[in-house]
Amino acid sequence: MKIRKLQRDEMPPYDLLLLADPSRELVETYITEGECYVAEDNDDIIGVFVIVPLTKETVEIKNIAVSEDRQGQGIGKKLLQEAIGVSKSNGYDNIEIGTGNSSIGQLALYQKCGFRIAGVIKDFFIQHYDEIIMENGILCKDMIRLRLEIQ
Ligand SMILES: CC(C)(COP(=O)(O)OP(=O)(O)OC[C@H]1O[C@@H](n2cnc3c(N)ncnc32)[C@H](O)[C@@H]1OP(=O)(O)O)[C@@H](O)C(=O)NCCC(=O)NCCS
Repeated sequence: MKIRKLQRDEMPPYDLLLLADPSRELVETYITEGECYVAEDNDDIIGVFVIVPLTKETVEIKNIAVSEDRQGQGIGKKLLQEAIGVSKSNGYDNIEIGTGNSSIGQLALYQKCGFRIAGVIKDFFIQHYDEIIMENGILCKDMIRLRLEIQ
């Protein structure tokens, strides 16, 4: 598997990006503000992440996704480690990531990679998404913000 930056003239993998974020409008906004990286295996794109600068010191991983048929094989963890490495070499001090209160697996993954809960944006998903999001039998209402200090 190879992880590389998507070139400006390449089509972003929307099928994967929309797995992590059902709002095409929000995805289109942040992919123009940040850098999109893809994981390729035999010329198939099987993973993606997008890093967006928030401040001079902090970046946010806005989207991270692995093809459904390749999930649970350690690819998400590799993508997250690559995102941390890229942000570190670009001189950032912190990485943030936001996920839903119902995203149990994602909360596990981020904490296993060293991220710590830094805050909660109450009702974020109720206010910013038209459709109801249910995961693990839990209504997704709040955004849990996690942060990793990298320097
Ligand atoms: C989230 C996602 C990127 C993770 O990728 P993945 O390749 O399936 O994840 P990995 O196989 O690398 O596993 C990640 C770790 O999380 C752990 N994990 C996942 N669910 C867990 C749970 N419910 N409880 C405890 N640990 C869990 C795994 O055990 C693994 O840890 P380990 O390496 O110590 O065993 C992937 O599932 C995905 O694309 N989901 C849909 C899109 C999405 O929701 N993106 C995030 C938006 S915030």
